[in-house]
Amino acid sequence: MQPVRIAPSILSADFARLGEEVRAIDAAGADWIHIDVMDGHFVPNISMGPAIVKAIRPHTTKPFDVHLMIAPVDAYLDAFAEAGADTITVHTEAGPHIHRTLQRIKGLGKRAGVVICPGTPAKMLDYLIDMVDLVLVMSVNPGFGGQSFIESQLGKIAAVRKMIDRSGRAIDLEVDGGVDADSARRCIEAGADALVAGTSVFRDGPDGYAANIRRLRGE
Ligand code: DX5
Ligand code: ZN
Repeated sequence: MQPVRIAPSILSADFARLGEEVRAIDAAGADWIHIDVMDGHFVPNISMGPAIVKAIRPHTTKPFDVHLMIAPVDAYLDAFAEAGADTITVHTEAGPHIHRTLQRIKGLGKRAGVVICPGTPAKMLDYLIDMVDLVLVMSVNPGFGGQSFIESQLGKIAAVRKMIDRSGRAIDLEVDGGVDADSARRCIEAGADALVAGTSVFRDGPDGYAANIRRLRGE
């Protein structure tokens, strides 16, 4: 397992100053920049598209961790790859053929991630784990920042950790939703090595970002 990576979700940033916000979380010690893409159809909210990803790309050299909450997703993979995504993460439910979608992401030369929602069993990964670079366990239902961490997902994180260790491959295990200093510690204990956090990073304004990120690392 790697030391935990922190991926602030810019869904909680000030959209009117997005470039500055990305520079601020980079300087504050973010490992990855988490970008939540919502289509108002797969999830009940609309956020940002490839044009935004492209616009903020020059503001940091940190990897872009792009979480696509859109369905069907296949038609948009090329656009996000071209816009500067490093990892493209898709939901098991986001298209007719998740295996094909993951093959396509790899074919574009990007890291491929798969997301499992709170109601989706870890078993969904059985025939996917050997082709992904990242598994994202959602600890809230996708669609909004600021929701409460769903405790039952801790058992799933532990189960996915076992699957990853058995696979013998280097696969990141990321958790997304309601992550604060307290739930972060429990996610790490359960086997997570990457944490997404929106509210708990951005809540105090730029002066608080570095301390908030350190707190999530348990420092
Ligand atoms: C939810 C998104 C999350 C969310 C995290 O659909 O995938 O990334 O923005 O926000 P917090 O940390 O506020 O739960
Ligand atoms: Zn996300």
